[in-house]
Amino acid sequence: MTLAEKAGQMTQHSWGFGSDEVARKEAATGMLGSVLNAPSLEERNRVQKLALESRLGVPLIFGRDVIHGYKTIFPISLGLAASFEPQLAERTARAAAREAAEVGIDWTFAPMVDVTRDPRWGRVAESFGEDPCLTSAMGAAMVRGFQGSPGDAERIAACAKHFAGYGATESGKEYNTTWIPEPLLRDLYLPPFRACVEAGVMTMMTGFNDLNGIPASGNAFLLRKILKGEWDFSGFVVSDWASMAEMIKHGLCEDDADVAKVSAKAGVDLEMATRTYAKHLPQLVEAGVVPVAVLDDAVRRILRVKHELGLFDEPYRKTAATSVAVCAEHLALAREAAQRSVVLLKNEGALLPLRKELRSLAVLGPLADAPLEQLGSWSYDGAVEAAVTPLAALRARLGADVKLEYVAALPDCRSGDASGIQAAVDAAARSEIALLFVGEPANLSGECRSRAFLELPGIQAELVMRVAATGTPVVLIIMAGRPLTIGAVCAQARAVLYNWQTGTMAGPALADILFGDVAPSGKLPISFPRTVGQVPVYYAHKNTGRPPKQDRPQIPTGTPLDPVDFDASYVDVEVTPEFPFGFGLSYAKFEYGRVQVTPARVRQGETVRVQAELRNTGATAGVEVVQLYVRDRVGSVTRPVRELKGFQRVALAAGQSKTVQLELPTAALAFTDADLQERVEPGKFEIFVGGDSRAPLGAELELV
Ligand code: NOJ
Repeated sequence: MTLAEKAGQMTQHSWGFGSDEVARKEAATGMLGSVLNAPSLEERNRVQKLALESRLGVPLIFGRDVIHGYKTIFPISLGLAASFEPQLAERTARAAAREAAEVGIDWTFAPMVDVTRDPRWGRVAESFGEDPCLTSAMGAAMVRGFQGSPGDAERIAACAKHFAGYGATESGKEYNTTWIPEPLLRDLYLPPFRACVEAGVMTMMTGFNDLNGIPASGNAFLLRKILKGEWDFSGFVVSDWASMAEMIKHGLCEDDADVAKVSAKAGVDLEMATRTYAKHLPQLVEAGVVPVAVLDDAVRRILRVKHELGLFDEPYRKTAATSVAVCAEHLALAREAAQRSVVLLKNEGALLPLRKELRSLAVLGPLADAPLEQLGSWSYDGAVEAAVTPLAALRARLGADVKLEYVAALPDCRSGDASGIQAAVDAAARSEIALLFVGEPANLSGECRSRAFLELPGIQAELVMRVAATGTPVVLIIMAGRPLTIGAVCAQARAVLYNWQTGTMAGPALADILFGDVAPSGKLPISFPRTVGQVPVYYAHKNTGRPPKQDRPQIPTGTPLDPVDFDASYVDVEVTPEFPFGFGLSYAKFEYGRVQVTPARVRQGETVRVQAELRNTGATAGVEVVQLYVRDRVGSVTRPVRELKGFQRVALAAGQSKTVQLELPTAALAFTDADLQERVEPGKFEIFVGGDSRAPLGAELELV
């Protein structure tokens, strides 16, 4: 290959950005490696033909953001994470791959495995939440789902993104600065990426963030030292969209030539959207600034992935005889995934499930019948016409003997127009139960959708208050792409379901839950703050030297400072979250019994068996997500008060009990010490097993 051909392989054209005509010429002369967002299978095959007829005939790889489904939309990742079910994530990714592959998409930019503790950040919707253990399991499962196995015609390459630390973005502001000490980087932000590498992810994408002064797309520490060095990653690294050229604005690079030099040396193999590689790499090599070995390594990686995907053998995707897009099987899966994502936050007096004898129902709110909004962000290929809204599902389900009144009340969730509220109030007053659908529109979360306020947008809180004032019991259904501060509105409702944005089948899944065909089983993958001022609030915090007291006295006005009161809490709000990580109710009632660890004294390298008694003392069947947390009592560096180390979904019939067994390998107790070494330290560990991150102490373990 000539230097120009090598630099061309390292270039991706973003369709519609810059000249597509120029991109066609680049493809025809072997100066292009990849295309993003080509509009159709026909267009993809046309450009592919140009590339194949070039001197070397290297096929292009076509990418597209297939994030939580292609035509059939599954729950947003934050919702899917609430299922605590990696196999489910794998199946949804598999279905998405099948739908994408049949239209010539070879490669998706998912999963996003950025751990984040910041609900202000819009991309929290794309994340699996705040925990590295859960994110690792979900991310690796999606990689397996997208990539299938070699030779499989329906596989597409996955891309773990955004390497790394993007979720720590300052104040939740998009594209921002991150300062992450190396131990925290290694223990919190990197493990999910490593899990994806271990699952065989073919590609990785850099972040937009400036990490400790070096933007991720120019960060040799991340890409060369950790990813390609320590982890021996053999796939290729793509920059995020224009993130390389943005290093000029960051103030790291002088000009485009400098960008090409810095990114190539740092280890970015493929440039997304911009052309600094194509324009400058050949000259930089000739001038001795960038070693040719850097280009050779990058091109080898890109060709290897193309080869593994089978593009050299089958460069054209064939039009499927029968399309699998939005097929019955995928819709059934979407319904199942949506059911398992929903989290029951409150159910006073067992208002839910709704009684079969119900004769009148008010369906209210701007999100009861909003097909586009229930799909969530990054669903631009989603089949909106296939989306079944809660209103449609309820109408289809309820017979003529139930009077259903629907009032949207507000033109949309952000509206300040209160003129429709009275009609909703009247409908609620006439009904036995009011189902009230509020939350965020799809375009208020996702990329570049940071929020500084986390309340329900617009005047939705007023709608909730006025409907609740009728005295009709209210079931609040919140559809949103992030945790919202909902304490005040929850207090008005008898039951609350957190419904995220669960995709095409959000409506039927919710109806299944409301009427008790399925008991809710989702658990929060992220802590919900009481107020935005608490952010970041997360369960795996440190204990501090003055942990907050349980019943801290109120400080009356005018009292002098008393050091007895000095602890790590707030004077104006409780220090705990509104809803903790791992929390979620069921229609069943789960009680935990004795927890046992065997052996109780363990050597490094061994695996501990943790057993817990679980009983369903309720009157209905249900699924509990049993969670295992560990606290390392004393470490050479201080350790979090607890960390999730395992989980399992357990289905129990009414009255049934079971001994649940979880495995804890001692390797899971490792952390990064002050010398930046990953190590497992001997000592005592506390073991907690329960239904959320407040699980009580169950047993002790000693590592010798
Ligand atoms: C920018 C986003 O940050 C990234 O996640 C996405 O995959 C690319 N654009 C491509 O659309």
